[in-house]
Amino acid sequence: MHSYLPFIEEILIDEETLQARIEALGAQINADYSHMSDLLLICVLKGGVLFLTDLMRHIHVPHAIDFMAISSYGPGARESSGIVRIDLDLRQNVEGRNLLIVEDIVDTGTTLAYLRRLLLARNPASLRICALLSKPSRRLTDIPIDYVGFEIPDKFVFGYGLDLDELYRNLPFIAAVKPGMYAHS
Ligand code: IMP
Ligand code: MG
Repeated sequence: MHSYLPFIEEILIDEETLQARIEALGAQINADYSHMSDLLLICVLKGGVLFLTDLMRHIHVPHAIDFMAISSYGPGARESSGIVRIDLDLRQNVEGRNLLIVEDIVDTGTTLAYLRRLLLARNPASLRICALLSKPSRRLTDIPIDYVGFEIPDKFVFGYGLDLDELYRNLPFIAAVKPGMYAHS
């Protein structure tokens, strides 16, 4: 049996803390969007999936969901390549709609800056960003993040949607990986 335990340096955010913060983010979104119609949550695959499904349970404003897949990493890499690729685009028109991007983590900001520009070009009524995690010390591109779950230090993290070499997205907490550890080594 493979275990993730040897990879964990520390648990940065436990399940209870994570869930309480997500509920609070939902409350904030409910307040902000109470007078807006046609809200579309755009989840960035794959890392944002757990966050989306928990967050949307706390959003009581009527909303639709859709998914985009974007990659900026080379295979197995832990640094953004700086080159962003759309692997899966939306299948609906977003013109005139209120868009909320739901993302797992903002690291350098390269991915979200690209996505933001792409979606703004499609003329939505509004566009906001909700990220569970942010590593402010790593930012290369200054982008406005409207809702942030947690600011974390410059550590590679996994769990709760985020992968360690594509594994362990299912963990209910966020853990920092021990430096130099790879899941398949
Ligand atoms: P950015 O373009 O550098 O902001 O990278 C954003 C993307 O890199 C995120 O959406 C994640 O998919 C991935 N990423 C950045 N940091 C981590 C991490 O610590 N663990 C897992 N994935 C990460
Ligand atoms: Mg991501």
